[in-house]
Amino acid sequence: MTTSPATEIDFEIHPSQTRVPAAERERILADPGFGQVFTDHMITLRWSAERGWHDGKLEPYGPFALDPATSVFHYGQELFEGLKAYRQASGSIVMFRPQANAARFNSSARRMAMPELPEETFLRALELLVTQDREWIPDGEGNSLYLRPFMIATQRGLGVNHPSSEYLFCVIGSPAASYFGAGKTVRVWLSEDYTRAAPGGTGAVKCGGNYAAAFAAQQQAVDQGCDQVVWLDAAEHQWVEEMGGMNLFFVYGTDAGGRILTPALTGSLLPGITRDSLLRLAPTLGIHAAEGRISVSQWRADCAAGELTEVFACGTAAVITPVGGVDGATGGWTIGSGAPGPISLRLKDELIGIQYGHRPDPFGWVHKVA
Ligand code: PLP
Ligand code: COI
Repeated sequence: MTTSPATEIDFEIHPSQTRVPAAERERILADPGFGQVFTDHMITLRWSAERGWHDGKLEPYGPFALDPATSVFHYGQELFEGLKAYRQASGSIVMFRPQANAARFNSSARRMAMPELPEETFLRALELLVTQDREWIPDGEGNSLYLRPFMIATQRGLGVNHPSSEYLFCVIGSPAASYFGAGKTVRVWLSEDYTRAAPGGTGAVKCGGNYAAAFAAQQQAVDQGCDQVVWLDAAEHQWVEEMGGMNLFFVYGTDAGGRILTPALTGSLLPGITRDSLLRLAPTLGIHAAEGRISVSQWRADCAAGELTEVFACGTAAVITPVGGVDGATGGWTIGSGAPGPISLRLKDELIGIQYGHRPDPFGWVHKVA
């Protein structure tokens, strides 16, 4: 056992004695899928009211033993993040805007009455895991190591008068290809029966409960022949908010003079890091970018008028995924030709170019690990 270089909160290093054999790993990396296979190690770190953050470890990936009365099983006090490590053509290993994930993790923690983690500790945990398991980062554009930091309430007991007094922070890594499959266009379902988030709720944070409550609507979307749900505002059920795991952008016009619009952060949708990156990147490419409001009826009318030419979803897992068509209780429509449009593809190319290191990184978004 060795100890990592001193940081305020330290991690003991316990390498696995039973790693996946290299040939088996290479077979997995040739076709990684999404979120099915995990690397040899994980990070764990505990928090208690008495000790604060303590007992940090990089250790072999494996199950937890938890008492059936552990708080998270009953009251769902949990939050997570998602980001990626990339292998660039030069051989460098980088992460994309991990400080932004650290900040969002802490904003989720505040809303969920959970302890914040110092940003440098969040980053150190990611760097340790990525460095240790770097052989698990697949080659090739579109492939990456998806990193999933999360935190659960681990106090034993069923009382609900106060938040848990103990927590476990953990980071796992999973080799990933593109979430929907390369070149895929998705069809979306407008959820009019269900609501994802309401003012004052948890829509703007990444807590597991938001996703648990979305499965019924996602199932409905699939039953209707769609891939994903589009969530509308809770009060009027007409303003577009976001998708189950992605933000949305609406593209007006064509290549020259095109502009993109994304729903503003009202407090009930997640402030996506990809969304923020595109809002900043697009103007540097001559594409005007704005946050605003768009209703379902305007979406439909602007498509019919030929003004709204493309729609795309964006997120860490989805990167940029074009939306080809929309369905809802009152019928559906096609967006543009139904195929990926030039502005979606251009933005995707530029974003991926920064992540994989073959475009300049004017915003300093790429964080080198090795
Ligand atoms: N919206 C939701 C509900 C999500 O789960 C995600 C994924 O993290 C996003 C949007 C996109 O966020 P990001 O670009 O930070 O991955
Ligand atoms: C992500 O893009 O990181 C997400 O969280 C989306 C989904 C896999 C939940």
